[in-house]
Amino acid sequence: MSAAPAAANTPDPGAAGLDVVREFADASWREDGPTRGVERVVESGRVLVFPRLAFALADAEKRFLDPRWTDGKTKNISVRWPSGELRGAAGAAADLQALRAMIVRYAEQSEAFALRLFPHYRGRLRRGNTSFRPFDVAGRVRSWRQDDTRMHVDAFPSNPMQGTRLLRVFNNINPNGEPRRWRVGEPFEAHARRYLGTIGKPLPGSAWLLQMSGITKRRRTEYDHLMLQLHDRAKADATFQATSPQLGVDFAPGTTWVCYSDQVLHGALGGAHLMEQTFLLDVDDLQQPQTSPLRTLERLAKRRLR
Ligand SMILES: [Fe+2]
Repeated sequence: MSAAPAAANTPDPGAAGLDVVREFADASWREDGPTRGVERVVESGRVLVFPRLAFALADAEKRFLDPRWTDGKTKNISVRWPSGELRGAAGAAADLQALRAMIVRYAEQSEAFALRLFPHYRGRLRRGNTSFRPFDVAGRVRSWRQDDTRMHVDAFPSNPMQGTRLLRVFNNINPNGEPRRWRVGEPFEAHARRYLGTIGKPLPGSAWLLQMSGITKRRRTEYDHLMLQLHDRAKADATFQATSPQLGVDFAPGTTWVCYSDQVLHGALGGAHLMEQTFLLDVDDLQQPQTSPLRTLERLAKRRLR
């Protein structure tokens, strides 16, 4: 770390002995905030929490804190990059333009903030989707695989990451005082060791078939296969969910938090009205590539997984 964050506060790791959360006092998204050069903290699997860093909404934007703006087909309203297209929303053109502007502002503030926190990533961090999630986590009935209240690392069947990192900047914009309630779990390497020995190799030709038939956007590598299996095994394992080391973390409205969601074991237990910005980063652009899920899995499997 180039500059130790003077305002850092490390909360009690909790009964499970998990040391996952780091708190910082920043109250600005811009260059003038105190915390910078904390790549190693986030890369080591910590959740960086900023309880004083709110995403301010204009009075006219508060009407968007309502699920009625969704188009009913998707769980999120999002802006896709690089096109800047708004997806998942329904309404009059002027309203949608204002809603899009709110989400774009979150993208821009998050990006400036991420580049201050992680200056080493400048020129390498790529902007992924920006999403606004108005729905309540607790209210949705879903299959076990889609049930994000169960702890998991992020991995997507149709969107193979091929080792690329998923860095996410979240903000709770709930207007009713409700926290976003997470639980976080064991370190990634311990988690990988828990299941790796029982996961077989993908069927020969399956990656090609998935890509050719349009099920995956690009080739599903062996890394993606393992990450999906870790995601599914964890969610399907009731004993793991109930008894593994875990820590509840409540993010009050006005809180920003940042983590690598492909590395931090997390489940979202409750809350509605969340902003989220995804950034993508190649493993070799990390300050400590050996901490990444790709390098960790390669070390444990004793072979290349690309
Ligand atoms: Fe997730």
